[in-house]
Amino acid sequence: MRDMPVLQDRRIVLGITGGVAAYKTPELVRHLRMAGAVVRVVLSRAARQFVAAGALAAVGAEMVDDRGPGMVHIELARWADVVLIAPATAHVLSRLAAGAADDLLTTLCLATEAPLCVAPAMNRIMWLNAATCANCAVLRERGVGFVGPGEGAQACGESGPGRMSEPGEILTALERLWDTAGSLRKVRAVVTAGATYEALDPARGFTNRSSGKMGYALAAALADHGASVTLVSGPTALPIPPRVHGITVMSACQMRDAVLACREEMDLFVAAAAVADYRPQTILTHKLKKDAETLTVTLVRNPDILAEVARLNPPPFTVGFAAETGDLETLARAKRARKGIDLIVANPIDEAGVGFAQDDNRVILIDKEGAVAWPTAPKTEIARALVREIMKRLPRTPSP
Ligand code: C5P
Repeated sequence: MRDMPVLQDRRIVLGITGGVAAYKTPELVRHLRMAGAVVRVVLSRAARQFVAAGALAAVGAEMVDDRGPGMVHIELARWADVVLIAPATAHVLSRLAAGAADDLLTTLCLATEAPLCVAPAMNRIMWLNAATCANCAVLRERGVGFVGPGEGAQACGESGPGRMSEPGEILTALERLWDTAGSLRKVRAVVTAGATYEALDPARGFTNRSSGKMGYALAAALADHGASVTLVSGPTALPIPPRVHGITVMSACQMRDAVLACREEMDLFVAAAAVADYRPQTILTHKLKKDAETLTVTLVRNPDILAEVARLNPPPFTVGFAAETGDLETLARAKRARKGIDLIVANPIDEAGVGFAQDDNRVILIDKEGAVAWPTAPKTEIARALVREIMKRLPRTPSP
């Protein structure tokens, strides 16, 4: 038994496209309605051959008439908490991948900000066809959720992958989507990542060994949970994750300006960048010559971006990192208090295999309640777990 009906009052647009599996959709609607969801159904023309509107309405679906007046696609796009297409034919997957808008369903998919979930159903060779695989890869990259398909006997008499998932499985997938994808919708997050580069002359500068992996993984995990994410990054070799707005900067001052430009629209600030503490007092316009035996460069302090954001009135929820050698926990506790931030993630940089430029990390989480040490794990996994911890602590996570 579940304690809380996750789908209670959720607004689901169910798009049904033309496959034999459409005959299962009254059963799917029944499951969704029993779970408390409100279901509006858009039937494609081909789907009408496999399932009757009357059968869907009889189990509680509100049928949408695509010949209705006004901007039905925009109204539905705004109304939906999620758009589910089941069964999704090879044809609709290709049209979604291409961004087609030639009927009500594809138009509303293009017009909505709600998550999109598809339950493909087709002949096994069609499913395995390179064109379908490429379309699915594009859709996955854009964050479309896939349920199934399963394997087994098919309507065409063959057996293999391509069967639409059972209604119960689709329901479970939607519930999981709500546990994750929707839970940070409406949260505006700014993440800093990577090292800054402080120029000395046109050819040289000061930087550090941060790869940006932790910050990029965090930005991706926040976006996966539905947050709108701006990633302000120093130069790195990493691609901007899907659905993340990337801004590339060089110096700490540029990073500060880019972050503070978001100050009015920031519910969460995660500072994962390794910001240079100092920069050369003057940036030379000509390349420095090696005439002298020794060279003295005067460095001046950089602004502390995290501390500055924590002093905003009102501040967003602030998360910082503390890369330390020595007594990790004590140093990080002091840093959290000094910068006035909500949560600090301490990680050692003097241990083999974790920290700077590595794929793994070992962290201690410290907030005002105390400290919790986590075992060594891949940064992507730590990012996902950290996002869950942030979600627990955010003052009020808006419901999707
Ligand atoms: O003071 P320290 O550099 O150890 O603090 C680390 C934390 O503060 C990190 O979260 C880092 O991104 C942030 N920071 C910052 N601006 C600086 C220095 C550090 O945002 N100038």
